[in-house]
Amino acid sequence: MEVAKETGKDYGDDIARVAQIKSIKMTTMETNYVFTNSWFDRHKAVWSPLLIELGPARVLEVGSYEGNSTTYLIETLASHRNVEIHCIDSWEGGIEHKAGGSAEADMTEVEARFHHNVMVAQGGVSHEARIILHKGFSNTQLPKLLAEGKQGYFDFIYIDGSHQAPDVLLDAVLGFELLRTQGILVFDDYLWQEPLSSGVDPIRCPKMAIDAFTNIYCRKLKLISAPLGQLYMQKISQ
Ligand SMILES: C[S@@+](CC[C@H](N)C(=O)[O-])C[C@H]1O[C@@H](n2cnc3c(N)ncnc32)[C@H](O)[C@@H]1O
Repeated sequence: MEVAKETGKDYGDDIARVAQIKSIKMTTMETNYVFTNSWFDRHKAVWSPLLIELGPARVLEVGSYEGNSTTYLIETLASHRNVEIHCIDSWEGGIEHKAGGSAEADMTEVEARFHHNVMVAQGGVSHEARIILHKGFSNTQLPKLLAEGKQGYFDFIYIDGSHQAPDVLLDAVLGFELLRTQGILVFDDYLWQEPLSSGVDPIRCPKMAIDAFTNIYCRKLKLISAPLGQLYMQKISQ
């Protein structure tokens, strides 16, 4: 697929593999984690220096799934300091996780694995990793955080929830409000395309929304880099 050419990584293969092994548990050798995918693993080399430099104490993640990114954040950050990680997820899955979708999954099992994996990660670090769950859709959970007074509260925000352009746009705009000035906003799957038999539907991809957001907010953001299909930016003014 086209994305494979642009990123050097066939993300479509990952999705197909996860669809095939959706009920098979993959346990890493050195831990008791239970994951069925390795979507996040390729980002660790880029995230590690960024997180070490930034040292975020307050993190917000939109889209936690079975906790691959969450456990990485716990391991990386709570080995050095106490950290507060807010996780927003409906645990209902996106369109791609529904029956017949490109990455079909039993979301009840996915949610159970998230809780297990987070507990394993918390048990393996020297500092407190406080996980605050906001179970629900981001279009209600993000405004709730704002209504609680958390404008400019977060040091680091990771957006990896719905991949539908209108949802991504809303997550971006509300995430911006929740991010402190100089904080970092990361979007996953900038170049992700759903493998549909009818071809690519740009409204079912994040790119159009991320492009619209970065264009409209160009005076308030500094793009850092765009490796591995992610996009990193720093908020530079309110
Ligand atoms: C790609 S997965 C997240 C992967 C995770 N960050 C990781 O690295 O393993 C996307 C998650 O977003 C959730 N999701 C999809 N649409 C959402 C929405 N509108 N609001 C909240 N969560 C949503 C799904 O339930 C799913 O668990």
